[in-house]
Amino acid sequence: MKLELTRRYAFSASHRLHSAALADAENQRIYGKCNNPFGHGHNYVVEVTVTGAIDPATGMIANLSELDAYVTQEVLEPFDHTYLNKDVAAFRALVPTTENLCIEIFERLKKFPGARLARIRLEETGRNSFTYAGESNGSGT
Ligand code: NI
Repeated sequence: MKLELTRRYAFSASHRLHSAALADAENQRIYGKCNNPFGHGHNYVVEVTVTGAIDPATGMIANLSELDAYVTQEVLEPFDHTYLNKDVAAFRALVPTTENLCIEIFERLKKFPGARLARIRLEETGRNSFTYAGESNGSGT
């Protein structure tokens, strides 16, 4: 039996898509308005999915208040109302695309002690979302 628990969270942050590996003209061509030097914001929605055995004493996979506290500490507080390019160390060198943000969130949450992290789904807008399940998680499940 495999049961998963998915919990939704939200945070708001701004970013600028600009790669140091590309010339300014290439950055503008590839990222368009998202390369605007003043940045722009998104209301991100993040879905955290965990899995594991049901604790026979509680009947639950994970304690939701423990999960909430962990996600708040590792992701929501460090990211909410920030400029990702400067305020989050990982994005000083890495372009804060939603792809890279999704991986960063997974890396921050994978050590959650209360259950096994199965995947992260990150929505940038109502039309785009990305899902990441880690490097070593691709087969057999
Ligand atoms: Ni954007």
